[in-house]
Parts: sequence; structure tokens; C-alpha cells
Amino acid sequence: MDTDERIIATSESNSDKALDQTLRPQTLAEYVGQQKIKENLSILLEAAKKRGQPVEHILLYGAPGLGKTTLAHVIANELGANIRVTSGPAIEKTGDLAAILTNLSEGDILFIDEIHRLNRGVEEILYPAMEDYALDIVIGKGPSARTLRIDLPRITIIGATTKASLLSAPLRDRFGMTYHLNFYELSDIEDIVKRSAGILNIRHEPEMAAEIAKRSRRTPRVANRLLKRVRDYCEVKGDGVLSRDHCFNAFAMLEVDESGLDSVDRKIIELIIDKFAGGPVGLNTIAAATGEDMATIEEVYEPYLIQLGFLDRSPRGRIVTDIAYKHLGRKNTRKQEKLV
Ligand SMILES: Nc1ncnc2c1ncn2[C@@H]1O[C@H](COP(=O)(O)OP(=O)(O)OP(=O)(O)O)[C@@H](O)[C@H]1O
Ligand SMILES: [Mg+2]
Repeated sequence: MDTDERIIATSESNSDKALDQTLRPQTLAEYVGQQKIKENLSILLEAAKKRGQPVEHILLYGAPGLGKTTLAHVIANELGANIRVTSGPAIEKTGDLAAILTNLSEGDILFIDEIHRLNRGVEEILYPAMEDYALDIVIGKGPSARTLRIDLPRITIIGATTKASLLSAPLRDRFGMTYHLNFYELSDIEDIVKRSAGILNIRHEPEMAAEIAKRSRRTPRVANRLLKRVRDYCEVKGDGVLSRDHCFNAFAMLEVDESGLDSVDRKIIELIIDKFAGGPVGLNTIAAATGEDMATIEEVYEPYLIQLGFLDRSPRGRIVTDIAYKHLGRKNTRKQEKLV
């Protein structure tokens, strides 16, 4: 299956982008779940507005599809600020970032997605920009070189990353606020499914929102994707209404089980059980043996399997837990050996 077609894709696909335009919440009130973050943020935003000062720089981190980009836009919207969007890999040269920074106005927001992928030189331009709202330009070379400091407008940088540990310490330290987005509560995902179904005019049997939510890995993007795929199925096989029968047939066709695991998750767990006696086994070995990309396993599959308690991390590698054996209807024979 093409990665773009997978329900649990790593990145946004083109069809996601179109869907996002309609489904993306615009305000904190519309942003479902992440209650603590919302409470904290609304105070931060309110205080900055009252003081008439720009908001501190904000770092958002969390697994793909949990709503980092959405939250950055919500923040801008709540502040009535302009937002300029770029990403770590898109800024290749220091001059690129300097050009972006000098073109911003007071109070603007610069959203840097995948901020852990900024190169070193570019990152160093960012330090004085974040700390002193200044741009240091080196003029000339060798002994006669000197630094010219240009004032920048007071802006807010919002950075997003899937792994905060990949960020250099000096960069991390320059963010006044860091928010860790966690997997959503099941009831929040159900609300998101209902909200999206309402916006897209999808009629469904009442319990189907919960059934889709259960299979959505506690992740809004997956929930929206799954809803859309199930809707397609129900339109082709029936009258478009999400009935129980059609939904369950669609889940089977898409190979998502009632815990939200897809064929790749199962491949990973079965591999560790069958070839490595349940582990521990290193991530690179899992990647090589399953033919999946190592970063994808680490950033997309593994966090959810750990959250479910199916997988444990140990210094020597990944271990499949009893819960996972049970889920797959398998026996943990190694444990029995121990007992004998
Ligand atoms: N709290 C939320 N309430 C409702 N819908 C949400 C929420 N968070 C995210 N979504 C939906 O999920 C989609 C994915 O969110 P978003 O693109 O913000 O994720 P992300 O964390 O930036 O992912 P990535 O790491 O891949 O960039 C959004 O288009 C939006 O429709
Ligand atoms: Mg994003």
C-alpha cells in the first residue's frame, strides 16, 4: 500500500490538505481536548494581549497528527496575528531565514514546522532573533570582519517537532513555553469524529462515531481519515449512511482492528514474537526485517504501541508485552518455559 493511502500515514497527504481546510478548528473553543494546554495557553495569550506585548516563543511537540500545526494557527487566530509558515528543511541558508525575519511585522507569528531539522548555521541566526529580537550579520571576512546588528520587529516563534529530544539544548532553552501534546482521550476523539461528520454532512448510526474513534489511535488526523474512508465505503456499498454492517466491513477491508492497529503494527509485533521470541530487539533490526522506515516506526507506530502497553522499551531493545500476546490471541511460550 502506498504510504499516502495508509490511514496511519506519517505525513499529510494532498487529500488531507483539502480536508484540513474544512475540518481544522479555528479557535481554542473549537479545538477539542488537550484541556490543560488550552487552559494554560488562554492565560498566556490573554496576559500578552493585556500587556500589549508579543507572546513568548512557544514549542509544540507530540506525535504526528495530534494537532500541532492546527494549534499554531489557532494561537495566531486568537491573537489576531499574522502567521507565516515555514519548516526546518525549507530554510537552507542563513540568508533565507534572515529574509523571512526582516519581512515580518511587529506581533507576527513565525511558525517553524519540523524545527529539529534546521541546520546549525540557520539555528544560530535564530538565537539572537528569539532572545533580543535582533539579527546579527557578519560583514567581510577574516580579521576585518565585523558584526552588524539589525533590530527586528518583536515577533513570536512557534516551533513544532515530533521529538523534542532532537532539538539542540540552546534552541530548546529559548522557548518560553513548551507544550507536549499527548494522545487524546477516547471521548475527545469521538467528539472530533462527530464534529467532522457534522461539517461533512455524513449521516451515521449514533454508535458509529465511537466505533471509528476506538480505531483512530487517539489521533485526530487518523480519526478524520478513517471517517472519510468509511464514508467512501458506505457510499459505494450503500446509500452513504454509516451503518454498523458497512462500517465493520470497511474496518475489515482497511485492516484496522478494534484497538486501532493496522497491518504494519501487527507485522511489527508478530515479527518480534516469531523471530525474536518476544524481544528485546533493536529498532534497526525491526526496521530491516519489516521493510519499514526506522523513523516511521519510531515516531508513528511505536508511540501508540507503547501507549497501549503492547510494547516496552528497554536499553537492549523493544519487548512485546503479555497484553499484546493476548490481543493477537497468541501464547507467550517463553514465559511458560520460565515457569517449568
Ligand atoms: N484538537 C483538535 N480538535 C479537532 N480537530 C483536530 C484537533 N487537532 C487536530 N485536529 C485535526 O487533525 C488534523 C491533523 O492535525 P495537525 O495537522 O495540526 O497535526 P500535526 O500535529 O501538525 O501533525 P504533523 O506532526 O504530521 O505535522 C487537522 O487537520 C485537524 O483537522
Ligand atoms: Mg503539522
